Amino acid sequence: MNVKTAHVRSFGCQMNKLDTNLVANALARAGFKFTSRASEADVVLVNTCSVRSHAEERVFSLLGHLKHIKKSKKGLIVAVFGCMAQRLGKELLEHEAVNIVCGPAQLPQLVGLVSKAMENKAGAVAVSSNIRSKHRWEEFNALDDFECAYDSALGETPRQAYVRIMHGCDNFCAYCVVPYVRGPEVSRAPETIIEQIRKLAESGIKQVTLLGQKVNAYRYTAGDRTYGLADLLYMVSDVDGIEWIRFVTGHPKNFGVEIFEAMAELPKVCPYLHVPAQSGSDRILKAMNRGYTCAEYLELLDKARAIVPTIAIAGDFIVGFPGESEEDFEATVKLVKRAEYKNCFVFKYSPRPGTRAEDKLIDDVPMEVKKRRNTELLAIQEQISARSNKKFLGQKVKVLVEGMSKKSHLNSTEKPDQPQLIGRTATDYIVVFNGPVELAGRFVDVKITRTSALTLFGELDNG
Ligand code: 5AD
Ligand code: SF4
Repeated sequence: MNVKTAHVRSFGCQMNKLDTNLVANALARAGFKFTSRASEADVVLVNTCSVRSHAEERVFSLLGHLKHIKKSKKGLIVAVFGCMAQRLGKELLEHEAVNIVCGPAQLPQLVGLVSKAMENKAGAVAVSSNIRSKHRWEEFNALDDFECAYDSALGETPRQAYVRIMHGCDNFCAYCVVPYVRGPEVSRAPETIIEQIRKLAESGIKQVTLLGQKVNAYRYTAGDRTYGLADLLYMVSDVDGIEWIRFVTGHPKNFGVEIFEAMAELPKVCPYLHVPAQSGSDRILKAMNRGYTCAEYLELLDKARAIVPTIAIAGDFIVGFPGESEEDFEATVKLVKRAEYKNCFVFKYSPRPGTRAEDKLIDDVPMEVKKRRNTELLAIQEQISARSNKKFLGQKVKVLVEGMSKKSHLNSTEKPDQPQLIGRTATDYIVVFNGPVELAGRFVDVKITRTSALTLFGELDNG
């Protein structure tokens, strides 16, 4: 039989990386081989993100390129899946390059759709017709089976895996497209999650990252017991072989202290928290429908630090939300200075079709102002990180090695067996050092010799 070749691309968040891994795994089981070049593939699969218009523009530019390749390669099949597929549905099939459109809830069907399209060359659309319905049990069950069957996914980073603990989101932040493309919040059963993690541990996985749009909202009721994220952390901690446990992303609203208590008590749970504030202005937070004030957010950070003194905290901010004045922005600057984040991500507001902000508010902050606020906030955080990272100088840190750093091609040729490697600490600091590539997927100690705002640099400590 003629072996078919697939080229897989992924845009967007960790949830998308997980979905891409599951799809790649399903393709491999179906006998597909992989290529890093679209022009050599029989099928190109693109996992897409809708969170900002820029993410969608990048996909359209890739589709333009694929349309070009198709001119000289008539049989090429292009499948678009993920959030954009759910958002645009049939409309995407009208793009000359696209053969298959498959939503996040229809992933179990994707390989079948690809095989069929290779035979009959017909287009196909599989998306949820009523994504906000809580009763799509058939879809959820099929997804659960799919995740369990393909859990030892072909991840990019050796010995690390993502595990979804919940689907969707019910928060309806005014700017956010997620509830409309990933549907309602549904938590997965703890025994399914644990079973999956046990299998991952048996296959050599050492770090699991539990994923959800609002992981601290995880709730699952079985009989007379309701499980929350903290219960799950205790259960995952009991799995032999798993050494580090992370969870992302947290939502500041209703963050139970039991989660921090579990973090303090369980050595496997990494003292790291990603908890987006989005703004420091109460007026904007209200317009965003975030459900907390700036003071409540800061109280949460104080509580986390009181219970877990070693905790490192990361945040997200949106600048230029409709109506954001200089005064509102100053409140955000004040919050960033006060929060002492390890790092934070800053995004320029991007109106998303179908969201409340796009529907009801005017995108009235000019692009130059959004850009200026973005640069200013990042510069403030950079100063904070640069200063704070100096505390690592001369210290030894434990790192889980991810692999070669992207800059390893700049290495000196004197020691070709010691390329530049990259890893992360339990607190999620990025550490760069030289060492043998075989260390990927292993825990090592690194002595820090130099620091910058984003990175710690050091030497392997073999002692
Ligand atoms: N515009 C800009 N940033 C956004 N985010 C989510 N939606 C938008 C939007 N419409 C940001 C938030 C979120 C992160 C994943 O993306 O900060 O935490
Ligand atoms: Fe979007 Fe808010 Fe849900 Fe996060 S919690 S995905 S920001 S709606």
